[in-house]
This record gives sequence, structure tokens and C-alpha cells, in this order.
Amino acid sequence: MLILTFIFTGLGLASASPTSMSQSLFPRSSVSTTGTCGAYNGTATCSGSAFGNCCSQFGWCGGDTGYCGYGCQSDYGSCGVSTTLTWKSLGCYSDNTLSRTLNTSLTVSGGTIEACQSACEAKGFTYAGIEYGTQCFCGTAIMNAGASIDSSNCNTVCPQASAEVCGGSNALSLYQVVPIWQSIGCYSDTTLKRTLAHSFNVPGNNVEKCQGVCQDNGYIYAGMEYGSQCFCGNTIDNGATLTSGCGTVCSGNSGEICGGSNSLSMYYRFE
Ligand SMILES: *[C@@H]1O[C@H](CO)[C@@H](O)[C@H](O)[C@H]1NC(C)=O
Ligand SMILES: *[C@@H]1O[C@H](CO)[C@@H](O)[C@H](O)[C@H]1NC(C)=O
Repeated sequence: MLILTFIFTGLGLASASPTSMSQSLFPRSSVSTTGTCGAYNGTATCSGSAFGNCCSQFGWCGGDTGYCGYGCQSDYGSCGVSTTLTWKSLGCYSDNTLSRTLNTSLTVSGGTIEACQSACEAKGFTYAGIEYGTQCFCGTAIMNAGASIDSSNCNTVCPQASAEVCGGSNALSLYQVVPIWQSIGCYSDTTLKRTLAHSFNVPGNNVEKCQGVCQDNGYIYAGMEYGSQCFCGNTIDNGATLTSGCGTVCSGNSGEICGGSNSLSMYYRFE
């Protein structure tokens, strides 16, 4: 019986490897040996590289928020923080087949705004534009004199979402990622040596209210602690480390977690 068990275990392992290989949807030449990675920089993956496991939107491997946060290319390594992007509509923009407003064209199935946005997002772009129903463009800037035009020019119904507009002839329904707060995990704190330097009294504290106070006061980190406390800062101080102590619901929203005892639910604001 022992021997049989061994054989079946072996078979199970052998059949597991084709499955994991089929998860490679994009060509990857290798693990990065130079520190560059991603769709436009040699297609190496950062997973297991000496430079860090995350591939940034600019094509470099690294291991901190700048690499693992917004723009991180999830097809070329791990992305260490959860991503909650917000796409803001910029309205209808002109385009020209000879000089594109967004200079990277992607082939995307789905025929919806969301399909194009998520394809652009996966490659680290900050703009997404949909034209003439099915064309998806991405970029990091509005180029070639692309300009806002009357919304009546964007008049093509999305092929697979009849309530949405997917641009028009030489017209882009244009979207941009706006500043977002991104969860970077649960961090340790102590009352004598604070992780985030500035404390604010936020009545009915919740994640969004604390983030709003930090943003209004010009800080890039926001942390909620023990349900009702809100801290802000521009640096993570006093050697704080990731911890698992965040499990207290927010005093102002029982559906959200606001840290715990000596633990901060930490967020970083990406511009
Ligand atoms: C990656 O490629 C882009 C586009 O060609 C370029 O702008 C960028 O500098 C490259 N990044 C690295 C790390 O070489
Ligand atoms: C798009 O424009 C950016 C900014 O000028 C440039 O870095 C990038 O290489 C361009 N990409 C393509 C595919 O032309």
C-alpha cells in the first residue's frame, strides 16, 4: 500500500506541471538577469530574479511599492499589493490613424470599455481609449495633439455592452487612472514610537475618511488603527514591519477593517 501511494503521488505531481505552464499567456524569454522585464523590455519575468519579484510599469524589477504597486505588470512577476484602480472618464478625444493619440494598440476581445481598461492596466498604462467599437489603445500620455472633442463624436455602441459607448470614427472614449489609495498591508505600530507621525481625530473613522484627511493634509501614507484611530505620514518610521494584527472593524463602517491593536491598515497614495 505504501508503494502504491507513492506512485499515485508521483503521477499527481507529474500531471501538475503542464497545468502551471499553460498559465503563461504571454511569451517570457527567461528570468531577468539584467533587472529589466515586461512587455516592452525583453519579456523577462522578475519572479525569482535577484532584483526583486515585481515588474514595474517602467520595465524594471524590484521589490517595494514602487515596483509592486500600481502599474506592476502581473504577467511578468508577482505584484505585492492589492490593486484597486479607478478609471476616470475624460470624455471624447480626437484620434488620427497616422498620428495616434494613444500610441500603443492592443488586440482585446470582449468589446467593452472594461476589457480595454484591464488590458491597459495589466501592462502598466495610465490611459485607455476605445475607438470605433472594438479598437483598444493604451498610453502614458495624450500625444500628437489629441484633444477633447464634442461627445457626439463618440457614438459607437460597444459591441458587447449596449449601454456603453466605445468611441467613434477617429474618436476615442478616453479614460485615465486617477490618484488612488492602494492597500500595502498591515504594519506594526507602538504608542511610544509611531509608524506614521501624524495623528488625526476622524469622527466615524473608516478607510475612506482617514484617507481623505491624509490626502487633504498632503500625506502619501494613511493608516487606520484599532477601529477609530487615523494616522498619516510621508514615511514609514521606526522600523515598522508587516504584521498580521489587522482585524478590527472601523468605528464608522463595520464592513471595513481599520487595523488592530498596535497594527495599522496601511495605504499608499499613488499620483
Ligand atoms: C522599457 O521600454 C520602454 C519603451 O521602449 C522605454 O521607454 C523604457 O525606458 C524601457 N525601460 C528599461 C528599464 O529599459
Ligand atoms: C509611446 O510614447 C512614449 C512616450 O513618448 C514612448 O516612450 C514609447 O516608446 C512609445 N511607444 C511606442 C510603441 O511607440
